[in-house]
Amino acid sequence: MFALTDVKKTYQQKGRTVHALAGVTLEIPRGQLVAIQGSTGGGKTTLLQMLGALDRPTSGTVILDGQEISKLGDRKLADVRAKQLGFVFQHYNLIPTLTAQENVEMGLAPLGPKPEERKQRAAEALASVGLADRGDHLPGELSGGQQQRVSIARALAKRPQVLLADEPTGNLDEATRDDIMGLFESLWREGLTIVMVTHDSAVARRAERRLHISGGKLTEK
Ligand SMILES: Nc1ncnc2c1ncn2[C@@H]1O[C@H](COP(=O)(O)OP(=O)(O)O)[C@@H](O)[C@H]1O
Ligand SMILES: [Mg+2]
Repeated sequence: MFALTDVKKTYQQKGRTVHALAGVTLEIPRGQLVAIQGSTGGGKTTLLQMLGALDRPTSGTVILDGQEISKLGDRKLADVRAKQLGFVFQHYNLIPTLTAQENVEMGLAPLGPKPEERKQRAAEALASVGLADRGDHLPGELSGGQQQRVSIARALAKRPQVLLADEPTGNLDEATRDDIMGLFESLWREGLTIVMVTHDSAVARRAERRLHISGGKLTEK
């Protein structure tokens, strides 16, 4: 699914060069549940941005399903993100003035289904994360765990090839964290490829495969 070869990403910070990724080579086959662990500043988010076509490497190649996404222009990258990838973030990134159902429908807008189909797919996605009866609630009326479920539904409604999650349980208490991990596990058993970034060992332990990143260097655990 993913093949990264010697991926480097450098940033300039106050005249200094930061090696956020110092040559990462990695293959992720379809169907894996991968956790990338590491402390703050280690390069986790930068790596996820490479996988998620959110940015291009300074050097090296990123291949998604046979397509070299590290070479694509902004328009094409946006297209890959909209059509092939689902994103889940630590802070859910829901629109507070839209209901759960509307938030999930928004995620489908770039794919261009007709309003009726959009409605139906959003309702199905909400049901698949156990929130069939919460579609008309605003994010502020939902618990943190429920808001994260809405954001997962928003990603799933697109029927993505892979789910990319950046600290998806970072804002949740332990019980809710385990709950969301259970949801990821069941999605993975149904065949979804999931790559998540976390600093939490309890989360990483439940993954099929564990990687560690520190100083922009990746190691298999
Ligand atoms: N947009 C950016 N501009 C400058 N430096 C950045 C930028 N993004 C990340 N960095 C730096 O790259 C390194 C890795 O950051 P990041 O990937 O966010 O780590 P993590 O997610 O593991 O905390 C850090 O030193 C960080 O300060
Ligand atoms: Mg980060």
